[in-house]
This record gives sequence, structure tokens and C-alpha cells, in this order.
Amino acid sequence: MMNIAVAQSGGPTCAINASLVGVFKEALKESTVDAIFGSINGIEGMIDNHLVDMKSMILTNADMELLRQTPSTVLGSCRYKLPDWHEDEDVYIKIANTMKQRNIGAFFYIGGNDSMDTVNKLSEYFANIELDVKVIGIPKTIDNDLCITDHTPGFGSAAKYVATTMHEITRDSIVYSIPSVTIVEIMGRHAGWLTASSAVLHAMGETAPHLIYVPERAFSLDSFLSDVRQELSKHKAVIVAVSEGIEVPEGVQSGLVDNFGHKYLSGIGKYLEDIVRSEIGCKVRSIELNVMQRCSSHLGSKTDIDEAEEIGAAGVRCALKGNTGKIVVFKRISDAPYTVKIETANASDIANKEKFLPDEYINSAGNNIRDFALDYFMPLIQGDLNLVTEHGIPKHFAIHESVLK
Ligand code: F6P
Repeated sequence: MMNIAVAQSGGPTCAINASLVGVFKEALKESTVDAIFGSINGIEGMIDNHLVDMKSMILTNADMELLRQTPSTVLGSCRYKLPDWHEDEDVYIKIANTMKQRNIGAFFYIGGNDSMDTVNKLSEYFANIELDVKVIGIPKTIDNDLCITDHTPGFGSAAKYVATTMHEITRDSIVYSIPSVTIVEIMGRHAGWLTASSAVLHAMGETAPHLIYVPERAFSLDSFLSDVRQELSKHKAVIVAVSEGIEVPEGVQSGLVDNFGHKYLSGIGKYLEDIVRSEIGCKVRSIELNVMQRCSSHLGSKTDIDEAEEIGAAGVRCALKGNTGKIVVFKRISDAPYTVKIETANASDIANKEKFLPDEYINSAGNNIRDFALDYFMPLIQGDLNLVTEHGIPKHFAIHESVLK
């Protein structure tokens, strides 16, 4: 018999707890698995031996259902970059000690490309010290920027939120007779997937978003102003979707970086709002969707949440087959009917790399998304969650805050 451990890492999503449920449920079925530990705050919990016994935390099927519909990371998260183990072995020794003390034979890390760096380094290190702990990565990120996998759990729900919210903003923006511009800032770091997904509104006959700017194309303020003027000549209310990661002058963002050296991106919408006000002079608003786009599980995609659970379970099967240093990934078989299968890839091929929006998805002017790209986005946002509510509000599963750091 062996125990297993699972941790969640990086930016939250609506689907990361569903993957945790997938790991938990699949491990419960395995007669060779005894305790299922949850590591608090990602890899930090493994370093500090700060683990919870998940069987005493998730007691019933109703608990699992609730956890599945709960956004964010129930076990907490981290943005912790492991050093190169050839140069600094201290934290690796601590992690290996936790593995040995707790008799852990497999470790599952649910995270994005930075977290897959951890999967890669840990699996290499354990092989080097001949410690038999399988390390498997389970993907997630609203940014959808992981290589090899067709898409990442969390993205579909975020895309559904973005499109639904922009649809509602469109209705609100057209009420007055005066011209207006509404700029919606969308997350995604250096990849424009989430911003581009707002184009699904075009399939509903909406002309909005009239302009879509993604980091894959160079951004020019002059072209932006001329685009906005042109759209204002055709539409009373112009809706603009802009990625948080487009190039902007120094000073617009805080300049702060996380442990992986990623800039904290925020403020492009407000910056463009001020420019439109001073240069064009019409009514203008900016809306930063901020964390709502990654935690609004009331608008979660059933496809996304179901797939997140399935890929978590597939991770457990992958480890029990004896694999290590692998990531479970989606391979799309067809758009319609939408079919995917789950495969594995090497963590070393995914860690620290980014997958960008295909160039052909972006129009030649670099200010909108071509219609055929919607075939990619559309299946990922389908289906609604049948949420358990209390007092009219979706219920969440939470562990006591004193357990988290
Ligand atoms: O990587 C996911 C993400 O939500 C990005 O879209 C965003 O730029 C970043 O995380 C925000 O970081 P934090 O969670 O530290 O606010």
C-alpha cells in the first residue's frame, strides 16, 4: 500500500477543484492507495510537511459535488519556483523527506506552465536520488497557454464568463443616444486566447466586440485611435476587448513581478480609457474583468468542469501505470461533434513554454478575430452547471481558514 499527495498551484480557476475531485475519486477506487494527502499552498506544503488528510476533509458525495462547483483552489496555491537541484538541493531534500515520512508513492501537481516546471524538476530529482515517487502534472490555467494540450481546464469557464459578461455589457452600452466606447480588459498574460474567445458573440449575430487586441500582435496607439474612430462612425456604442498583456509604455503597470519573473499585469483598460477621453472626447468606460473571470463558477462551463474532473482521474491512472515526469493532455479529435481524448506528454516539453494564439485566427488588421476560429472556442463553453445553492447563492466547499497559511 502507498499514500498519494495532490497540490494546486498558480492562478486560480473555476475548474481546479474539479480536477482535485477527479484525483480523489479515482484514488478512492484504487486498492493500492491508502491515504490521500492534500498539500497546503502547492509545493510549499510538501516543503513544510503541511498536509491535510483529504479523506477526513471530503466525507460524502455531496461534499465532492460541492467541491466540484467551488471556484479557486481549496488547498490554497503558490507561485513557488524550485531552484535548479544541481545548484541548490535544500528544498528538494525537504520535499523528499515529506515523501518518505508520509510514504507517498505518487504526487499530482495541478497547475499551469510554471507548475509543470516543478513536475519536471521533481521527477528528475527523484530519479537521481532513486526515490520511487511518481510525479504527474495535471494542467489548468485560464490563460490556455500550455503547449501540446488542445486546451487547459479552467479556460472554458473563463471564456464563457468573458463572453457572457461582454454580451451583457453590450446591452447596457447601447441605451443612450450619445456615442460611447467601452473597453474591457481581459487576463491571459502574453497569450490572447481568453481575449479572443470574446469573439464567440459574433456567432450570436452581435457586432460586438467591435475591436479585439491580443498580445500576439504589436499594439500601436495611433492605429487603436483610428480603429475606434472608424467603429464610432458605424456604431453608436463601440465595445473593445483588450488583453492585459499587450505592450504598453512603462509606468502603466506596477512593474512588480512574481517569483517566476512574470509582471503583474493590470491597468491597460484604464490607460486606454484616458487616451480615448482626451483624444476622442466621447463617453468612455473601462472595465477590468479582474479575478471575476477566473472565479465566477456561477457561469462555469459544464464541458470544462467535467473535463477537469476526467483529466484529474486520468492523472492518477497515468501514475499507477508507472509513469513519472508526465503531464496529462487533451487531444482534440473533432470540433463537431466535439470529441477529445486524453493522452500524456513529457513535462520537459511543456514546462516554462507558452502556446500562443495561431496567427491565422487574427485578422489582417490585427484588431479582430476571424470567424473560423470560433469552431475552436465554441465547444469549450458549452453546458451549464446545475449548482447547489443556499439562500439563492451558489454554495461553496471550504476548509477552515486556519488550515491555510
Ligand atoms: O496565470 C493566470 C493568471 O490569472 C493570469 O491571467 C494573470 O495575469 C495572473 O494569473 C494574475 O496573477 P495573480 O494570481 O498573482 O493575481
